Amino acid sequence: MESVRLSVNINKIALIRNSRGANLPDLTQIARDCEAFGAQGITVHPRPDERHVRFDDLPLLKATVRTEFNIEGNPDPRFLREVMLVKPHQATLVPDGPQALTSDQGWDTAKYHDFLVDVVAQLQSVGTRVSIFVDAEERFVEGAKRVGADRIEFYTGHYAKIFSQDPQKAVDNHVRCAKLATELGLGVNAGHDLNLKNLKFYKEQVKGLMEVSIGHALVCDALYYGLQNTIQMYLRQLN
Ligand code: PXP
Repeated sequence: MESVRLSVNINKIALIRNSRGANLPDLTQIARDCEAFGAQGITVHPRPDERHVRFDDLPLLKATVRTEFNIEGNPDPRFLREVMLVKPHQATLVPDGPQALTSDQGWDTAKYHDFLVDVVAQLQSVGTRVSIFVDAEERFVEGAKRVGADRIEFYTGHYAKIFSQDPQKAVDNHVRCAKLATELGLGVNAGHDLNLKNLKFYKEQVKGLMEVSIGHALVCDALYYGLQNTIQMYLRQLN
């Protein structure tokens, strides 16, 4: 079975740091430790109000991360400028509004076609791979291909919500859309509300899945099990 990369989203760690105004916990040390504990990538999601990771964290993290650095977010002019300076391995474009509590849907890749074509090309011109966050619907996958993206990231929030009642129903559209994406030559990532209960089934069902980015549940689990154990527990679900 293929292994799927675990990218740990460290936004919640930044939130704890910001709550006290000093540098505890140290985000770059956390990134280093996540990698030492087995994470195969580090994800951050700078938002306009910088309530989690801040834009000035990005160059430090880029210099620190040895696996894969993924910056996700809404490509407003500031995001685009800062991300193009940092040149992460991957940028994941997310259509969340400035006040959004968290991302809760993917792009309408037809409606935003022209905008996305431009942003994708700009990011790729500095050597950054571009992934587009989409709901698992065929039309959005096809639209992602048309704007020139390298990958898609499926929004798994709905999957996570339905999983406990009907796992197969929850995952069916992801299975179909991952197959389509692979046929179109798009890589497949996934994220949002993935956790120790719903991750293994998702990974087993969604063929071609390359990477998951997980933040909230993983950080919550780490409160009980510790960061090292928790990362190992997530890796065991994936491999
Ligand atoms: N992927 C995207 C695009 C996101 O916006 C988020 C949340 O920041 C995640 C993945 C991770 O979601 P969670 O924190 O629920 O694991």
